[in-house]
Amino acid sequence: MNEMTELASICTSDLTQTAGLGTGPVSCEPYRSPAYFERERENLFKRAWLTVGRVEQLPEKGSFFTKTIEIWNAPIVVTRGSDDRIQAFYNVCAHRGNQVVLTERGRASRFSCNYHNWVYRNDGSLMGVPDEANFFDLDKKKCGLVPIATDVWEGWIFLNHQKQPEVSLQEFLGDFGTRFAGVSWENTDTSLYFEAHLDANWKVLADAFSETYHIPSIHPATIGKTFASAVNPHSRPLDARFWGPHRQFSTFGNPDYAPPEDAMVEKMAYANRDTGNVLGAAETAGMTEYLDHPAINPKQSKHWALDIAVAFPTLHINLSPGGFWSHRFWPISVNRTRWEAEFHVPKPLTGREKLQQELYITRIAGILLEDVTNTERTQRGIEAGAYDTMQLQDGEVQIRHNLHHVDRWVNARTVREALGI
Ligand code: FES
Ligand SMILES: [Fe+2]
Repeated sequence: MNEMTELASICTSDLTQTAGLGTGPVSCEPYRSPAYFERERENLFKRAWLTVGRVEQLPEKGSFFTKTIEIWNAPIVVTRGSDDRIQAFYNVCAHRGNQVVLTERGRASRFSCNYHNWVYRNDGSLMGVPDEANFFDLDKKKCGLVPIATDVWEGWIFLNHQKQPEVSLQEFLGDFGTRFAGVSWENTDTSLYFEAHLDANWKVLADAFSETYHIPSIHPATIGKTFASAVNPHSRPLDARFWGPHRQFSTFGNPDYAPPEDAMVEKMAYANRDTGNVLGAAETAGMTEYLDHPAINPKQSKHWALDIAVAFPTLHINLSPGGFWSHRFWPISVNRTRWEAEFHVPKPLTGREKLQQELYITRIAGILLEDVTNTERTQRGIEAGAYDTMQLQDGEVQIRHNLHHVDRWVNARTVREALGI
């Protein structure tokens, strides 16, 4: 087989045309227009289900965590009640609007607002008001923490800004939700958490983790040779699949890669050397149930490095031989984004494993820095107005797909219209 034929046998071609997304240049306006950003806020982020965390962050009855959802201008608190129910609330006091819960996480049966000591139960109901007799017809039943529509899929906690969401979480995720149901999510109770604020549109950040075309040039010293090979020098993807606005992207890994003799940190940084496990945290031994799930490495390719499963718009779940990790992209303004990445690692049982994980963290942090340092420069370039469009190749189909669906939501009158259901 010559190299082009071999490449064609490994990687699905014509991903863009098969997806029916067109092949022309795409507009820069969604990345730089303040007016478009406001439409994204109202029509996408205030109508779609957004994930804020995982159930493991609420391990016991009474556990809670707080967040700010910038695109909603809203501080929130998510709790596990005494009935085990997970529920989010606006973290806003009914008295005069102070934030009630000030700590990031913890366990409490009640929350006390520190301004005038109004006290709420962790099911949101208002319990006590100091000097209540001095108020006028105060109806405590109407002064609880305001609930936010909450649901859970596969351990991911999703919220919806709409008081009565137009579609359920299940309808929103559709066949994507069915496909990834039952994955044996590994090492979810321990995680490495990275967060950064970047001067770039949220889609510029998401795009940085949506294609592998950049790998040979951005990551030559870290993963350039593991995600490309003589047969696939430009790291073309193995495959891409789409379900409404959600998608899966399977990336290429070089099965013949071995770290060079002098790459001591790299050699120790990952638990074993299966293809693609340069990014996964754990040994693949014992991960049979996880790796055997039909949604993972769907082509059963020996060239598989990882799958990127995207629950539109903000959750990227990366599934690799050594476990999974996730990214979330939180828009703050048209050119500012809070980025979160969370890697799930097993609890180290020996000093050697602890050292291996420390090296792994160092290595991952280096790779992530390579990815995000480009984003602010890219945003400045887009805002310069030199070009009104971008050119996308077939391996950048995820970016095209994302832009297509963002635009659908921005323009759709209803969520059902946006989803096409
Ligand atoms: S604002 Fe919360 S008790 Fe006054
Ligand atoms: Fe990258």
